[in-house]
Amino acid sequence: EKDMGADLENVLITKEEIDAKLAETAAKIDAEYADKDLLIVGVLKGAVMVMADLARTLSTPVTMDWMAVSSYGAGTQSSGVVRILKDLDTDIQDRHVLIVEDIIDSGLTLSWLLSNLGSRRPASLRVFTLLRKPEAAKVPIDVDWVGFDIPNEFVVGYGLDYAEKYRNLPFVGTLAPHVYGG
Ligand code: PRP
Ligand code: MN
Ligand code: MG
Repeated sequence: EKDMGADLENVLITKEEIDAKLAETAAKIDAEYADKDLLIVGVLKGAVMVMADLARTLSTPVTMDWMAVSSYGAGTQSSGVVRILKDLDTDIQDRHVLIVEDIIDSGLTLSWLLSNLGSRRPASLRVFTLLRKPEAAKVPIDVDWVGFDIPNEFVVGYGLDYAEKYRNLPFVGTLAPHVYGG
């Protein structure tokens, strides 16, 4: 029961691949914000790991804030209903803001976030997502930096959960169908 590995089907992206991608992306973000003050906004809870690792990979000094929204509940399907569980502590008007997400699935969460944060009149608003599922998109999202495009399978680990479990796996893997009754 406590062996997370037994619930996994495949390792999709290794820790080493994540680290390499973060190094590559951090260099681009450093260049983009070289002469600007950057606020990175992590979307709780999924983005905790990617926020922590990206922030430590950047050379640019950043400030960090967090927003908690949830659209999934305990299921595997996005409901499209986005709730704010915790708002930003920061007033983002005239700030350069980079939203950091673990995954864009249907796109509903980020679409809602972009419109919500965009209405607060930031100086700029960009997005980095570690993962994206192109086949699952329900709304088009203009993403500035994407780590990996992945197939439309249910993935866990490195912040991503199923029913709040598996977030602390250091890699991204696919969950065995028996775990979610598939
Ligand atoms: C997950 C994930 C993204 C969002 C993507 O969060 O972390 O934030 O769903 O799905 P979408 O593109 O279909 O909207 P979730 O709502 O499960 O909350 P969590 O981050 O706390 O797990
Ligand atoms: Mn999330
Ligand atoms: Mg979730």
